[in-house]
Amino acid sequence: MGRRPFVAGNWKMHNTLAGARELMRGLRDGFDTSWPVDVAVCPPNPLLYPMGKEVDGTAIKVGAQNVHFEAQGAFTGEISPEMLKHAGCTYVIVGHSERRQIFGETGQFLRKKVSAALKEGLEVIYCVGETLNERENNATIRVIERQLGEGLEASIDLSRVTIAYEPVWAIGTGRQATPDQAQEVHAFIREKIGGVFGPREAGEIRILYGGSVKPSNAEGLLSCPDVDGALVGGACLVADDFLSIISTAARTKTS
Ligand code: PGA
Repeated sequence: MGRRPFVAGNWKMHNTLAGARELMRGLRDGFDTSWPVDVAVCPPNPLLYPMGKEVDGTAIKVGAQNVHFEAQGAFTGEISPEMLKHAGCTYVIVGHSERRQIFGETGQFLRKKVSAALKEGLEVIYCVGETLNERENNATIRVIERQLGEGLEASIDLSRVTIAYEPVWAIGTGRQATPDQAQEVHAFIREKIGGVFGPREAGEIRILYGGSVKPSNAEGLLSCPDVDGALVGGACLVADDFLSIISTAARTKTS
């Protein structure tokens, strides 16, 4: 059986309760349950629980944008995997480039987060991606390989991990990778996963593309054989745009 497409929306630090409810209702009302695609929305932490309630009983799942690896304790400002679970999360994003770059999260740190989240039963969306400087210095593949190795211990249950390839130069810039650029890296990631985890895992793991995905470029990117869906930032803040990307994934990946 083929890989089921997956589209996740990363709200980043946007929305308060009233706007979030409106957005979620728009999404819920426009979502066609016959679309064969998994959908997740990742709001800021204070909105996780109320947004989970908004989509209760629907196919739309909620995810967090970050997690800490300790179960509890004196970690001011942090949130544990168990807390996310109890707030209604199914997914958590780990290793987003904004966490790596702005908040200095290292590979060693991210590896612990991935393992702790999986242990608690969360599904992980693990992000990798090169900067513009790294791409221009032909270091893309090396960087992706390093980030995969750092974040994913060989002993983890990979069936609950999704990888998101997000070139840093494409995030929030309006400059997306071309389908060929995306396919090249996605194929490399799949090959690498095959080498470390095995051919079955490589065939089953979903690899999302992220970075300026919008309704107008979704089809080209999602048509690539190794692109299994999208991690969407800016465009997921408008219900119709996000729905358009979701329906494109349902159509392109299953036709
Ligand atoms: P963008 O963000 O779609 O706004 O480029 C994607 C992301 O950071 O996940």
